[in-house]
Amino acid sequence: MTEPVNFQAVLDEINAEIRPLLGAGGTVASYIPALARVPAAQFGIALRTCAGAEACAGDAATPFSIQSVSKLFTLTLAMQHLGERLWERIGREPSGNPFNSLVQLESEQGKPRNPFINAGAIAVADRLVSLGDACADILALMSSLAGEPIAFDEEVAASEAETGFRNIALANFMKSFGKLDNDVGPVLGMYFHQCSIRMSCVQLARAAGFLCRDGAHPVDGLAAVTTERQTRRINSLMLTCGTYDAAGDVAFSIGLPCKSGVGGGIVAVVPDRLTLAVWSPALDTTGNSLLGMKALELFVGKTGLSVF
Ligand code: DON
Repeated sequence: MTEPVNFQAVLDEINAEIRPLLGAGGTVASYIPALARVPAAQFGIALRTCAGAEACAGDAATPFSIQSVSKLFTLTLAMQHLGERLWERIGREPSGNPFNSLVQLESEQGKPRNPFINAGAIAVADRLVSLGDACADILALMSSLAGEPIAFDEEVAASEAETGFRNIALANFMKSFGKLDNDVGPVLGMYFHQCSIRMSCVQLARAAGFLCRDGAHPVDGLAAVTTERQTRRINSLMLTCGTYDAAGDVAFSIGLPCKSGVGGGIVAVVPDRLTLAVWSPALDTTGNSLLGMKALELFVGKTGLSVF
């Protein structure tokens, strides 16, 4: 598309095409009651351009559990404070295994493949716990980026802790290799709380805004959230590792850096143009939002906006 895009019209069209498909496929995450009871037939989409223009459609203002989308923001916080030192403990390769897998950790001496699998996010949480009050720090970052107060859902955080046997195993396994500096308890406390953050598509598209403008703060525009180089690196990790085992397929069919979560949310970036957030709770077999991915595919098809 060469003429200016009417983004509101594009999102309205996508919403109209997606709504008849609601409830027809996919499964809502059911490992905790608070996620299992979310009605599947919901869909929201929001975007924010580099210049700060916003558009949204459907259930874009409905808050949901961002789950693993939080890994994008804890990584941002850790990169801000640790720079290159972060990569001493965490790799940058796709894992090719499920997000909660333990197998690679044994042969790779407790160093997670990337910050977006659970082991990697727990390793990031450990670094944040070393730096201060990690839970307060992530909420402060999210609230600043979204331009309004963001909170945890304490019911979800408690359920994550009660059922998080694999995450507890992952943390203890890394600890056994000497790869966590802090006690497992506070590190997992941080991880379970970050998974429980509630945000809407509108808030998420805004909060991720620094990723499409070389790291500049999405709301005040002046402060740098991340450097230009760090921003490029976060986007490349999203493209290669941001959507679980489906990252290759997502790059093939959508061609945008994305980070998804089992609450059904996905954040996507069109570098130098805009950030998008989509949400629909029913997941496909890879754990990504079925209709969220469909909506991103429609967006790229309608606008021609993709990194490729
Ligand atoms: O930690 C977990 O297993 C869940 N809270 C799921 C998080 C998620 O969205 C998938 N993670 N990559």
